[in-house]
Amino acid sequence: MQNKNIGFIGGGNMARSLIEGLIATGHASDTLYVSEPDSAKRDYFARQVGVQLAADNADLVASCEVVVLAVKPQVLKNVLLPLQSVLQQQRPLILSIAAGVTSGDIDRWGGGGLAIVRAMPNTPALVGSGATGLFANAAASAAQNDTAESLMRSVGVAVWLENESLLNQVTALSGSGPAYFLLFMEALEQAAVEHGLPAETAHLLVLETCLGTAKLAMESEEDLPELRYRVTSPGGTTERALLSMENSNLRDIVNKAFEAAAQRADELGRILGERDG
Ligand SMILES: NC(=O)c1ccc[n+]([C@@H]2O[C@H](COP(=O)([O-])OP(=O)(O)OC[C@H]3O[C@@H](n4cnc5c(N)ncnc54)[C@H](OP(=O)(O)O)[C@@H]3O)[C@@H](O)[C@H]2O)c1
Repeated sequence: MQNKNIGFIGGGNMARSLIEGLIATGHASDTLYVSEPDSAKRDYFARQVGVQLAADNADLVASCEVVVLAVKPQVLKNVLLPLQSVLQQQRPLILSIAAGVTSGDIDRWGGGGLAIVRAMPNTPALVGSGATGLFANAAASAAQNDTAESLMRSVGVAVWLENESLLNQVTALSGSGPAYFLLFMEALEQAAVEHGLPAETAHLLVLETCLGTAKLAMESEEDLPELRYRVTSPGGTTERALLSMENSNLRDIVNKAFEAAAQRADELGRILGERDG
């Protein structure tokens, strides 16, 4: 992947984190291209990051072996339709990070027969700790899949899915997941403050507890229930709190929330596809 030209259509938050991740992992900045309408963002990419600015989206496709679709899902159709002829000529690998839009819709809007990998990253990618689900269509080669995987690994971990529809479950887990953990952290912090801890102290302790627990779980060979048993002494404080959570059906609450998110991801994909009239 190191010497491939990689172009980003859309230079927003996600493109920026991917570009910074690629450069940090040794990709030469002058092999990276961005097409972006906003002049302040264009300036930032050209002056501070040192990547190439494409004159327009067609110019970018003509210059790159990998084209990352990093625009909002709602504008994807209008971005792709005018690019059909250059896409058909160049046949780049298309890596779409647009949430919900299926590879079938992308292929149709791009003229058909295209190698497409869909990626579902999450916001911690912005700090290099993302978790991404990947799906490749049948036209993508093993080498192209490797390229897509390396690209997403520059901002965290990446896992492959055999079924495109499973990207909806990834959306419900790691895509929306940061907000679930933030809500839990917020509730814990609020409870601590209501029970007398200074706000700053509660905030610091909640953040470190979350980070430390994730680190412990990643570095341990034990599974999650075993790790939990180890910190739950019989008759102790943790046991009392966990019992209260189980009695309030925490697992059921989480299961319903997961189902709701996965169902919404499926609905959004259908709505975006149906916009094609
Ligand atoms: N952020 C996340 O955590 C996350 C997670 C998973 C997936 N995603 C997906 O990643 C994609 C990008 O998200 P983001 O948060 O980076 O969005 P963003 O910050 O809004 O970036 C999109 C960029 O594309 C530009 N753009 C709009 N129309 C364009 C066109 N025709 N040609 C070229 N560029 C164009 C926009 O410019 P203007 O602002 O001037 O319109 C904007 O700078 C989305 O599809 C989203 O679903 C994001």
